[in-house]
Order: sequence, then C-alpha cells, then structure tokens
Amino acid sequence: MSDPANLAAFLEDAWQLLRRGVADSRSPARYPTFATVSPGGVPEARTVALRHAAQAEAVLEVHTDIVTPKVTALQASPVAALHVWLPKSNLQIRLTTTVAILRGSAVEEAWSKVPPASRVSYGTVPDPGMPIDDVYDYEKPPDQTRFAVLRCTVDHIDLVHLGKRHRRAAYVRSDGWAGTWLAP
Ligand SMILES: Cc1cc2nc3c(=O)[nH]c(=O)nc-3n(C[C@H](O)[C@H](O)[C@H](O)COP(=O)(O)O)c2cc1C
Repeated sequence: MSDPANLAAFLEDAWQLLRRGVADSRSPARYPTFATVSPGGVPEARTVALRHAAQAEAVLEVHTDIVTPKVTALQASPVAALHVWLPKSNLQIRLTTTVAILRGSAVEEAWSKVPPASRVSYGTVPDPGMPIDDVYDYEKPPDQTRFAVLRCTVDHIDLVHLGKRHRRAAYVRSDGWAGTWLAP
C-alpha cells in the first residue's frame, strides 16, 4: 500500500485490486457479491464473476443469463451494489452502480470471447431457479440469445482498510472521485 494519508492513492489501490480480480481467478476480487433489489423491494445477493474493470469510465462488467431473477430485478430497479473483501490487503470495497443490461448484437464480441466450456452457463433448461423433479433434471445447452452483459456504471465507492489504525473513505462520481475520509 502507498502513502496511507493519500486519498487518491487509496482509490488507485482499490482499482488495481479490481483489475487483478478480472485477470486472476484466484483473487478474491474475481468473485464479488452482487446485490440487487427485487421487484417486491427485497434485497437479493449472489456471487458473480468480475469480467471487466475500467477505471477511466468507472465501469465494471458481469456476465449473466438474461432469464435469471437478477435481470428481472434490474429491469425493475436498475441499480446494484458490489462488495469485495480482500483478506490479504485487509480491504473492503463497496460500490454502488447503475446497471445497463446489454444483449444481442451489443454483446456479440463479448460472447465470442467466452470459452466454449463456459457458454453452458447461459441457456439452462428449465430456467434457473425453477423447481425440478430430481437433482440433475436440467440441461445446459449454450444459448447466445440468453447471454447478457451487465454494464455497471459506478456512482459511489466506499473503502475500508483494517490496519493498526483503520482507514475509511468515500468517493463519488459527481465530484470527479476526489474522495473524503470517513470515520471508520
Ligand atoms: C463462484 C461463483 C461464480 C458465479 N458467477 C456468476 C456470474 O458471473 N454470473 C451469474 O449470473 N451467476 C454467477 N454465479 C451464480 C449466481 O451466484 C446465482 O446462483 C445465479 O446467477 C442465479 O442468481 P439469481 O437467481 O439471483 O439471478 C456464480 C456462482 C458462484 C458460486
């Protein structure tokens, strides 16, 4: 970690760790918790894989199956929170985002990069979350028409670092990510 009193460096560290999550499947940042609000107002959280992290635009991307309940939730309420705990760095990253659901021709290039073995994650029959008669009563044919990219534009970032003296900061898009220290 760099100068502990430098707000900008604290944010840089977080983005670097998010990029590591995209590049390295062993990093805990690879698998954030992704929380949405159901159409009935109930919080819903699940693990996802982080596929893209672009600091310049403050965008994160996640891939999903268009028929999953998280997409229904996002259609009603296009917001998601992502949470990562990085034990080696002693850092918690929380991000609040506005989510665009991309599919069809907008995600053709992303689909072309999904390895064949992973394409079966998009197309489960019956739809994910439906009751089945027995444990393996489902098929997983790859289905490009079910593939979606959740493009999460970051609005707010909250970082907590546990150290000899804890550090916490918040950053918002609206002030150009200048950030402010918070009581931890
Ligand atoms: C390690 C791990 C990684 C996962 N990655 C994804 C993912 O990238 N996208 C996704 O839609 N579901 C992923 N899942 C499955 C979700 O956690 C969830 O079970 C599924 O998407 C249905 O969620 P929903 O019913 O809330 O929509 C992953 C699960 C695990 C355990």
